[in-house]
Amino acid sequence: MEKIDPRKYGHIVFFTGAGMSAESGVPTYRGRGGVWSHYRWEEFACQEAFDGDPEKVLKFHELRRAAVLACQPHAGHAAIAALEKRHPRVTVVTQNIDGMHQRAGSVQVIELHGSLWRVRCQQDGVAEDIGEKYRSYRCASCGNWLRPDIVWFGDMLDQGVMAAAVAAIRSCDLFVSIGTSGVVYPAAGFPSFAKGNGARCLEINPEANEMSSLYDEALRAPAGEVLPELFS
Ligand code: OAD
Repeated sequence: MEKIDPRKYGHIVFFTGAGMSAESGVPTYRGRGGVWSHYRWEEFACQEAFDGDPEKVLKFHELRRAAVLACQPHAGHAAIAALEKRHPRVTVVTQNIDGMHQRAGSVQVIELHGSLWRVRCQQDGVAEDIGEKYRSYRCASCGNWLRPDIVWFGDMLDQGVMAAAVAAIRSCDLFVSIGTSGVVYPAAGFPSFAKGNGARCLEINPEANEMSSLYDEALRAPAGEVLPELFS
């Protein structure tokens, strides 16, 4: 594998999906062992499910929080965080809600699908809530149910977050996609945004998928092995 000299690039964007966390032990969504092969998202990951049985949905997210807290960021997360410290402009755009990039030390992280570590009250807004169990299922001020601040199936992406992601991708000259099947909107459009700026587009994923042809190059190996080597 040919190493990448980061000094040749002004702005490097890493676009990550569930495969980025797979080697930490966090299950992916699709495929064998994926979250959606054990749980129906219709029962656990949409507004209708929450409205019907908030406690069941919150308990499911507590299981996910416990599973993530039992995992640690891996060498690939560390390589991205280290690169940010020695390069003028590195941005992570992630579909992951597990907070692994931040735990590894990344600072410029745009979370497209929200976070397992925040809750949202319809009336009183968003609050941080870190831990295996939620501090409370109800808002301390108004008593409403608190919902995980996550973009579920059928939800709109936050327009401000989306705008920040697109701006980062449109201004990068190296775009590295890692561990995403690329099937969930808006992931599929991202390589063409990057190419609009003439960016080099690289995919890191052990398996090809229907979006792979959008990339200039592919490294068919696990993220935790490739990343430390690639930017060493
Ligand atoms: P998927 O589960 O759809 O895809 C995971 C990808 O990671 C697959 O392409 C795998 O081949 C790849 N992969 C597995 N192990 C890897 C490794 N060690 N290194 C690199 N790649 C690896 O996950 P996402 O594409 O992230 O949304 O899914 C997108 C969204 O769909 C998620 O954010 C989630 C889900 O429903 C919400 O929950 C809103």
